[in-house]
Amino acid sequence: MNLAKRAFPLVPAFLIACGILSAGAARPQAGSPPTQSSAVTPLPTGGQYADNNICQTCHQEVWDRHFANTPHSALLKGEQHGCQSCHGPGQAHVDGGGDVTKITRFETLTPAQTAAICTKCHQSSLETQNFAKSAHLASGVSCTSCHSPHKSSDVNFMLIKPQTELCYGCHAAQKAEFARPYRHRVDAGLIQCSDCHNPHGTQVGHQVRAAAGQFAVCTKCHTDTMGPFVFEHAPVKTESSCLNCHTPHGSTNPRLLQVNNVNFLCLRCHTPNTNGAAPGAPSFHNQNTKYQACTLCHTQIHGSNFSPVFFR
Ligand code: HEC
Ligand code: HEC
Ligand code: HEC
Ligand code: HEC
Ligand code: HEC
Ligand code: HEC
Ligand code: HEC
Ligand code: HEC
Ligand code: HEC
Ligand code: HEC
Repeated sequence: MNLAKRAFPLVPAFLIACGILSAGAARPQAGSPPTQSSAVTPLPTGGQYADNNICQTCHQEVWDRHFANTPHSALLKGEQHGCQSCHGPGQAHVDGGGDVTKITRFETLTPAQTAAICTKCHQSSLETQNFAKSAHLASGVSCTSCHSPHKSSDVNFMLIKPQTELCYGCHAAQKAEFARPYRHRVDAGLIQCSDCHNPHGTQVGHQVRAAAGQFAVCTKCHTDTMGPFVFEHAPVKTESSCLNCHTPHGSTNPRLLQVNNVNFLCLRCHTPNTNGAAPGAPSFHNQNTKYQACTLCHTQIHGSNFSPVFFR
């Protein structure tokens, strides 16, 4: 699953930093989350790198307690710049006895500037490569809104908070949806937002993950609905696919259906006068109770290998 993170090459810093910054992806907006200040400090792009270990002499606590035990301690190896990989060349800061104007402080950066620093190394990961175009960055949500290299409380992925709590913190409407009687059990930890979404953005709408070679993210888990079937039910295979009939998060209707009565769901399409491709239900399907529970007879509603009308 994390194959990407094993393989990212360390791209020359200056190339990417310049590319991203000049792309002008910074679009801080009114009402954006308050995690970034609007005062913009230019990134220290030049200057001398100090010896990696010197930072330790004055920032012992950060070094020992908030860095050495994190995945980023890998940046101390070889020719890499340790702390300065993110905070920029630090010799002037050291010479100035800790002059804070001579070191990159994330609090002063725009969301796009922060992203530019992090993506020096994380751009090529499949997981993070769409961030520059994501709804999150466009709304002023950047890497440090969700991750903290020094103050993570979630050991996996250095998240600021455990994932569900993190997402709910800004997405109250979705929190309410997952509290409905029928829902994907995100609250119980059975499934996570990131199973269906990539918070770093995707090529498709709503930051939904594409399931490679499949019709929808849903079929990653619900493989039995995927087919191929000898007799396909057309809406399962059209673009909005599962969402023709289901809601993804939670619903007041059993089976996460969009409507509370399966009858109404089917008749959205299967009425003689809808101009869609669906045939009307046959005339003997009168609206007696017997014929209202459509899936009592048409049980294989996602498709069938035996029955063109999905009986079995
Ligand atoms: C001579 C002591 C000294 C050395 C060496 C030193 N710093 Fe600092 N640093 C300070 C002082 C003093 C401050 C300002 C007080 C504070 O916020 O901790 C500071 C502040 C900072 C800040 C800003 C903190 C904030 O509150 O935003 C960063 C980032 C930083 N240092 C990184 C580094 C890095 C990276 C290195 C190694 C290249 C380094 N420092 C080496 C003394 C030092
Ligand atoms: C992967 C990038 C990265 C590396 C490497 C890194 N920092 Fe930071 N540092 C940050 C970010 C981002 C912040 C802003 C606070 C946060 O999100 O944790 C920060 C904040 C700080 C601060 C401000 C005080 C604070 O904790 O908020 C200091 C001081 C600091 N870093 C020093 C260091 C030192 C010393 C090292 C090396 C031991 C280091 N940093 C390595 C990204 C990094
Ligand atoms: C809206 C919240 C959010 C933002 C913004 C965000 N991340 Fe993440 N990130 C996550 C979550 C949640 C995970 C864990 C994903 C999972 O469980 O699959 C993660 C995982 C990661 C991983 C490890 C996964 C992998 O396979 O590569 C990296 C690296 C990463 N993020 C870097 C970044 C960088 C760099 C940025 C900014 C360019 C960023 N993130 C912005 C929430 C966020
Ligand atoms: C100079 C390169 C570099 C920079 C800049 C950098 N990282 Fe990383 N990052 C790494 C390396 C190396 C790892 C460890 C990869 C591994 O363990 O396979 C890592 C790992 C991570 C992980 C995955 C942690 C996990 O548990 O799997 C996250 C999340 C992450 N970085 C976020 C960030 C954020 C946010 C920033 C900007 C504040 C940032 N990185 C800046 C090199 C970098
Ligand atoms: C089972 C898969 C799945 C899970 C789990 C999931 N989502 Fe979604 N989410 C979707 C799909 C699919 C859409 C697109 C809905 C559409 O196109 O109408 C969506 C849409 C959204 C939207 C856009 C607005 C809306 O509601 O249509 C937001 C915001 C969102 N999800 C946040 C979250 C958060 C936060 C979590 C975790 C607490 C989460 N999602 C968990 C599948 C999922
Ligand atoms: C700091 C606040 C913040 C955090 C944390 C956050 N989001 Fe968002 N998210 C936003 C904002 C702001 C937008 C853009 C406005 C909107 O569509 O709601 C957005 C947009 C989205 C969208 C796209 C909605 C659309 O219609 O295109 C999805 C999906 C989403 N977030 C999922 C997540 C997930 C999953 C997490 C947790 C890993 C998360 N968000 C964490 C603030 C946040
Ligand atoms: C990461 C795996 C995963 C993904 C992706 C996923 N689901 Fe689910 N889904 C589950 C699990 C597990 C359950 C059982 C939940 C429970 O028992 O609470 C479930 C339950 C359901 C149910 C209710 C079944 C019942 O018996 O009531 C429906 C309907 C459903 N999912 C539709 C979808 C749709 C539509 C999507 C895509 C938007 C989707 N699922 C994506 C794992 C997943
Ligand atoms: C034409 C409408 C329709 C479409 C499109 C559709 N479903 Fe369903 N689905 C239903 C109905 C109706 C039920 C309830 C069946 C029942 O009550 O016996 C159901 C039930 C389910 C269940 C519960 C277990 C089961 O098989 O009965 C899951 C899981 C599910 N659907 C997933 C999906 C996924 C994933 C997709 C997309 C690949 C999808 N559905 C597309 C109508 C649809
Ligand atoms: C979003 C529209 C839509 C919904 C909702 C929908 N269907 Fe369909 N259905 C179609 C289309 C389109 C066809 C394909 C017609 C064709 O291939 O000629 C079809 C085909 C069928 C067929 C096979 C008809 C034939 O002659 O091959 C049956 C039976 C059927 N649907 C039953 C149902 C039932 C029962 C429901 C409710 C659970 C339902 N459908 C919900 C659009 C829909
Ligand atoms: C009591 C069992 C039963 C119930 C309940 C039922 N059907 Fe049918 N349905 C049938 C039979 C029998 C056929 C004819 C099968 C054949 O032609 O071989 C049929 C055929 C169909 C066809 C195919 C029409 C065509 O021209 O190809 C559609 C569409 C359909 N039903 C929709 C529905 C819808 C919508 C509902 C719910 C309102 C429903 N059915 C409820 C038994 C049922």
